[in-house]
Amino acid sequence: MVLLNPGPVNVSERVRKALLQPDMCHREPECAELIGNIRRKLLQAFVPGHESEYTAILLTGSGTAAVEASVVSCLPLGKRMIVINNGVYGQRLSYMAGAQRLGAPELKYEWDTRPDPEKVHLALKQHPEVQAVAMVHHETTVGLINPVHEIAEIVDSMGRVFVVDSVSGLGGEPLDIAGPHVYMVAGTSGKCIQAFPGVSFVLVRKGFMDRVLTYPKRSWYLSLANYYEEQERGSVPFTPAVQLYHAFHEALGELLEEGVENRVQRYGRAASAIRQRMEALGIRAMLPKEFQSHSLTAFYLPEDLSYHKLHDGLKDRGFIIYAGQGHLESKIFRVANMGALMEEDFNGFLSAFQEVREQETGRV
Ligand SMILES: Cc1ncc(COP(=O)(O)O)c(C=O)c1O
Repeated sequence: MVLLNPGPVNVSERVRKALLQPDMCHREPECAELIGNIRRKLLQAFVPGHESEYTAILLTGSGTAAVEASVVSCLPLGKRMIVINNGVYGQRLSYMAGAQRLGAPELKYEWDTRPDPEKVHLALKQHPEVQAVAMVHHETTVGLINPVHEIAEIVDSMGRVFVVDSVSGLGGEPLDIAGPHVYMVAGTSGKCIQAFPGVSFVLVRKGFMDRVLTYPKRSWYLSLANYYEEQERGSVPFTPAVQLYHAFHEALGELLEEGVENRVQRYGRAASAIRQRMEALGIRAMLPKEFQSHSLTAFYLPEDLSYHKLHDGLKDRGFIIYAGQGHLESKIFRVANMGALMEEDFNGFLSAFQEVREQETGRV
């Protein structure tokens, strides 16, 4: 099956085989070595040239675990967070902050709208109790890239910290973390890094990590301080998914061999090919080009074709697409191009799309 949903993604045979490494005890030095290697590779991949300024903290759990660990760990006592919310995952950040009573009034936008950095500037001036700003990098809801760099510079210049959910971005979208001082970035294994789901991580600026160690613990299982302290001494606070770590390590090796920049370009080429063919078929993309990511496109459903018919027809032919969420559920469909996929997979999908459309609507 070719997965055109935004994770879990198709993985290479090399990554799949890495699951079959011999059994290993997580309290033995071999496991500490594996975790150390993963942490190093994450820094090499995502903060190249600035590895000594950041630390990588590894968690077992889906992307949400890394995002929530960031939210509950990033604030000192009595301080609050502004969430920039322009999609389902921005909304999730708000729920997380709300669950801990850490939220300040959020900056909320429509799902096809980019946040205005000047509004962030104003909000930070008005809210001295706010110590952190949180935002999604690639809003998977509609495939929108948020202006991380512009907002990071404002947040940093005003003495606050910027926390970014790049669960669907890292590996597939360009992101300069070190340059504009992004303080915490959450990512996951099962999307653009092309490993299995179930492993996630947070990249943290080192000076900030020292402060995080002094903040109150609002969760035990999701305390980044707990993970960091144990991993720094070659241990783990809880039982990790060792087999998934092996596969994740292999996928990071593949990513570094391909080069993050090259992968981003590969994804970009695939997305452009899909968008061009869809446009030629009269299928409209939801977002203007300058907002679109490299790895996912939201298209309007043609009026005479329901999502279910399209989905089921494509699934019968070996391709999985993704539905819209919330108020867009009956209006759009999403096509992701993450994962170990080749040009022929995308060509196969586009031919299958034409076939299903013709079968269901009589239109070529
Ligand atoms: C931007 C973003 N954040 C967080 C998540 C949650 O990740 P998970 O489902 O792995 O917990 C997703 C999942 O698609 C996502 O796209």
